[in-house]
This record gives sequence, structure tokens and C-alpha cells, in this order.
Amino acid sequence: MRQRLLPLSAALIAAAAAQDGGQLYTSYCSACHGPDGKGATGGAFPPLAGSPWVQGDPERAIKIVLHGLHGPIDVFGRTYNLEMPPQGAAIPDDQIAAILTQVRASWGNASPAVTTEMVKATRAANADRKTAWTAPELLKLHPLPVSAPPIAKLTSRIYHGDWTTLPDFSKLEARNIEEENDGLIDVSHGDREDLFALVWEGEIQAPESGTFTFRLDADDGARVLIHGKPVTEVSGIGPFGTNRAQNGSIDLSAGSHPIRIEYLEYMGQQDIALAMKGPGINGWRALSQKPVQPEKPTIMVAPTADRAVIYRNFIEGVSPRAIGFGFPGGVNLAYSADHLAPALIWTGEFIDGSRHWIERGQGNQAPAGQRVVKLASGRSLPPEARFRGYKLDSAGNPTFSSQLGKGFLLDAWKPGSSAELVRTLTLKDGATALEIPLADSLPTRLLAPGVWQLGDTLELRAEENTAIELRDGQAFLKLTNGQPVVLTYHWK
Ligand code: HEC
Repeated sequence: MRQRLLPLSAALIAAAAAQDGGQLYTSYCSACHGPDGKGATGGAFPPLAGSPWVQGDPERAIKIVLHGLHGPIDVFGRTYNLEMPPQGAAIPDDQIAAILTQVRASWGNASPAVTTEMVKATRAANADRKTAWTAPELLKLHPLPVSAPPIAKLTSRIYHGDWTTLPDFSKLEARNIEEENDGLIDVSHGDREDLFALVWEGEIQAPESGTFTFRLDADDGARVLIHGKPVTEVSGIGPFGTNRAQNGSIDLSAGSHPIRIEYLEYMGQQDIALAMKGPGINGWRALSQKPVQPEKPTIMVAPTADRAVIYRNFIEGVSPRAIGFGFPGGVNLAYSADHLAPALIWTGEFIDGSRHWIERGQGNQAPAGQRVVKLASGRSLPPEARFRGYKLDSAGNPTFSSQLGKGFLLDAWKPGSSAELVRTLTLKDGATALEIPLADSLPTRLLAPGVWQLGDTLELRAEENTAIELRDGQAFLKLTNGQPVVLTYHWK
């Protein structure tokens, strides 16, 4: 159903006189969508700021408020799969109109007002509706507004040549010129894999006057020029998505501005990502097919020179109860208290704790270092075994303890000389001997007496007489009561 839209300002005045949309928003919506429209609880709920779901055809948002929404919905490329409860019974038509008018004119949204009559008509037309809407249903009835291409009049030129720095394009002749109607830069449809360069030209839109920041990432080199002035550059040869991404800023007046992006691919992988932000833009606006990795504050959890550090939170690749240890010398362990086994070991940096400190424990944090090796993916002790905690020595090195009947298995870890972890296993107070898998996720083979190869990067060393047996390419260790076994994990 099409409805008449009032001019924005007149409707706003009318709505403001009747109802305070901002105050109503605070009462009815902000608990979930946030006072700033960005989604409450650090983005667990979808944003209304800049959301195409609230813009354009007002019936879409009216229906969501009246009857609720459930199932997967995509907002800014992120899929939510939650429930919004229906509000139609609780909020009268004039108040829904006031809220949506407010929302559609706030936080970068710029859509016409919603009148009480529109809400009334939508409510009447859907009086029989008992269930919440789904996103696909709404998209069929009220497609999202099509937005202008991020870079208008975009063209690309391709050049062939063996360059390791950006060449002087004015001296070169392009092999091919193409129009890029989607308005996004992208290297994936180049005409060769290596040894080429690209130049894109087009126009970007500054919604308001002010300072705009451009974030660029590339494999290999790239730079951005606006009005012919360099704004940011990723120089030389190197990979994408690491610490090479660069930001640069420029002052622009409201309106359109010529942009030029130069790009160079030497060998191997090829990629470019570019985004802009500034006044009138909600978050980062993508100017490339590929998204730019956001800048994220890094809060590295690190050991001191002579003491290990503990990290107890969700670690990627480890069962929920993970206990992480970063040891001096750049070796690390994530022990699973569910599996009573070392899950991951790795070298280099330990853990970036920023996610958990900022967002209060959402999601898993991956190890920050390199050469991550998964030692165990399941339990390594019999089902009756119970985790009994861990003790630290004076250097912060842990000894994990598991109870087996009346006995205990002590599993002590400390750093070795370099790129090494030393593990001491002791079976204590128990009568029975015990066999445990040493690496249930890695193919293992004997290299020399007392030396085994685990997977690709790891060597396991033990006393020659240690009872390690290989079966089907997996290593099993036999432990006898009261006889400690020392194992050394060494990265090659
Ligand atoms: C109890 C929490 C809650 C309240 C209160 C709530 N919403 Fe929602 N809203 C959600 C959830 C959850 C979704 C996503 C549902 C899904 O995943 O299918 C959503 C989705 C939306 C969407 C579509 C997605 C988007 O980001 O644009 C709009 C529009 C919306 N809500 C508007 C409102 C308005 C306006 C109010 C106040 C009248 C409101 N909501 C109150 C939880 C809530």
C-alpha cells in the first residue's frame, strides 16, 4: 500500500507537538537499540542508525514495531537471528508515528516523517496478523531503498609491468579501460594474476563539510588521491589484512570530489580494501568489494621477563573452560579444564585481551602468536577423571591436577630454552598405570630414538626409555605410579 508522505519539517513539527518521539524512543526502544541507535550491549542488538530497514517505505518499520520481527536479518552485512517482541498492543498509533519519525530523522537517517494515519492504516490492514514478521517477508513487500554507488562514475584502467613500487602512470599506456557500475573497487576480475597495476577514477560524495578519513589496505601497494592530492598510501610489497593498513585524512566540503586510487600487484595474493568515514556517514562507508579490517585497540596480555601470565576466558579452538598461560620467552599454552589436556600450544605473542576487556567476554579470542599447534581435541583421561585445579610455582608456571580414583595425575608446564615447552607428568598415589594420547589431532612419527615429529612444525623429545608407543600414527604415553616423565615440545 502506498501512502502520502508529509514534507519532513511540517510533519516533524506536527509530531513534536503531539508526542515527544525522543522520549518515547527512550521508553520503548533504547533498551535494545541503544540511546545512540547503534544497538545496545556493544552491538548485540541491530543498529537503527543508518539502517536501510528504517529508511524508505515507512510501512516496513511500522510493521516491525506493530508485530515484531524474528529469524535471520542482515544489517550492514552482519546477520542477527533474534526476536524483537511485538509492540503494537502497548504503543498507540500516534506514539509509534512519533517514534519512527524521530528514528528516521536521527543518527544520519534522513527519511520522511511517519504519520498517525499511516500507522493506523497498516495496523488495520494487518489486523489478523498473529505472528512476527521475518526479514524475507518484509523484503518482498517493501524492498530496501537502493543506495547510490559508493564511487560514482567509476572506471578502472589496467597496466602490465614488473613493478615493486607504484609506477608513474602518466608515462604508461593502459591495456584496458572498464566502467565499474557497482561503484566499488575490486581486483578480482583483473586479466592476469601477477605483475600488473590498476588505476581507478571516480567521484565520492561528502554528505557534509568536514574532515574525512580514508582507510586503505592492499596486497601489494596502493595509494589514494583526492583532487590529485595524496591522502593515504600502503607502500611497497607485502600482504593484506595485517598491520600494513593505513589511515589518512583530508578536509572536504559537502558535495562530490574526484578520487583516484592507484594499485600495484607484484606477485602472489592480490587484494585491495578502502573505506571512508566522516561527518554525515554512519561508521565506515565501504569503497571496495572487500571490507577493510577495522582498527582495533590491541591490549596484549604478556608475561614479564621472569613470570608467566594467566588468561582465563574463551580461547578459540579450546573447550569453554580454557586456561591460558603465556610464558617468558614467547611460548604459550591453552589448557582445557574440560578435557584435562593441553589443547593448544603456540609461539610468539600470547593473547590480545582487548575484546574481552571492552565487550565483556563475547566471543572467542584467538591466540595472538604463530605456529599454533592443536595437541588435543578431546579428553585424554578416562571418564571418571576430575579436574582439581592448578598450582603455580614462584615463576607462575602451572601444575594441573586431575583426580583418578584415589590417585592424581600432575601435569606441570614451564618454558624451555628457546621455542620450547617442557612438560612433566607424574602419576601419584594411584595404583593403576595409565595411558594417555599425546597428540590426538596430529600425525606422529618416530624420527630417532627419543625424538618424534608431531604434525609439521613440532618435535617431541623424551628420555630414550620413555614408554611412548605409536599406534595408527598417534603417540600414546604409558605412565607408572611415582615415575615422572619429562617431555619437551620443540618448534623447528
Ligand atoms: C526487547 C528488545 C527490543 C525492543 C524493545 C525493540 N527492538 Fe527492534 N529489534 C530487536 C531485535 C532483537 C531485532 C532483530 C530481530 C531479528 O533478528 O529478527 C530488532 C529489529 C528491529 C528493526 C530492523 C533491523 C534494524 O536494525 O533496522 C527495526 C527497524 C527495529 N527493530 C525498530 C525498533 C523500534 C522503533 C523499537 C521501539 C518502538 C524497537 N525496535 C524496540 C529488539 C528490540
